[in-house]
Amino acid sequence: MISIVRARDYDDMSRKVANIISAQVILKPNCVLGLATGSTPIGAYQQLVEWYNKGDIDFSRVVSYNLDEYRGLAGDDPQSYRYFMDHNLFDHVNIDKANTHVPDGMAEDYEAACAAYDEAVAAAGYPDLQLLGIGNNGHIGFNEPDDHFSKGTHCVDLTESTIQANSRLFDSIDDVPRQAFSMGVQTIMFAKMILVAANGEKKAQAVHDMCFGPVTPTCPASILQLHPNTVLVADEAALSLCADELK
Ligand code: GLP
Repeated sequence: MISIVRARDYDDMSRKVANIISAQVILKPNCVLGLATGSTPIGAYQQLVEWYNKGDIDFSRVVSYNLDEYRGLAGDDPQSYRYFMDHNLFDHVNIDKANTHVPDGMAEDYEAACAAYDEAVAAAGYPDLQLLGIGNNGHIGFNEPDDHFSKGTHCVDLTESTIQANSRLFDSIDDVPRQAFSMGVQTIMFAKMILVAANGEKKAQAVHDMCFGPVTPTCPASILQLHPNTVLVADEAALSLCADELK
C-alpha cells in the first residue's frame, strides 16, 4: 500500500518532498539518505539548500548513498550523477563529502565495485529514507522493466525508452551512455522509508501502474506496493490516470 500525497504542481511537490527529507534529518541528524538524480528532485534539493542557508537544517552528520551512475562517466563529467549531486546539493550544504557515495562510473572491476557498494550500504544500516524518481517506463534507479526484479547493485543495459528520455540532458542522443550501474530493487526495498516524487503527464501511466497495477518486474516501481512505508508525492498531472482509484 502506497500512501499518496497530492501536490498542485512541481513547486508544491518539491516543497512537500523537501519537507519530508528535512523532517528526517531533524529527527535523526545522523541518518542515512538514499538520494536520486533526474529533473524531478532538483526543486526539492533547491528548497533544502534554501532551508540550510536559513539555518534550519544541519547535514553535518548525514550519510548518503545515491542510486545510480552512468557507466563510463567520471565524477567530474558534467553529465555524471556525481557531478549532478555535487552541483545540486552537496556543494551548497554542510554535508561531509566523504560521507556521500555514488557508484563509481569508471570502475574497471565493476562487479567487485558493485558488491562493495552493496556491502557499504548494508554496513551503514540501509537508508532511513530513500528518495526515488520514476522513469516513464516505471523504472526506479536504473532498474528497467524486465522479467525479474534485480537484487544488488549491478550493471544495466539502458532501454531505448530511457536513452530517449534522458537524451534531453545531452547534446546528442549518441552521447547518452548505454549502460549504468544501479542499486538493485532488493537494496532499495531495504530502505526504512521510501519517498517517490513524480510530476507531469509523462509519468501518469507509470504512477498508475506503480500504485494500482499488478506487482510485476515489467513495472519495477510496482514492487513498492509491498514495502511497508512508501509515500508518493505527485502532482495532479502525474495522478491524472488515477482518478478512478482516488475517488
Ligand atoms: C533516470 C534516473 C532515475 C530517475 C529517472 C527519471 O533514469 N536514473 O533515478 O528517477 O531518470 O528522471 P526525471 O526525474 O528526469 O524524469
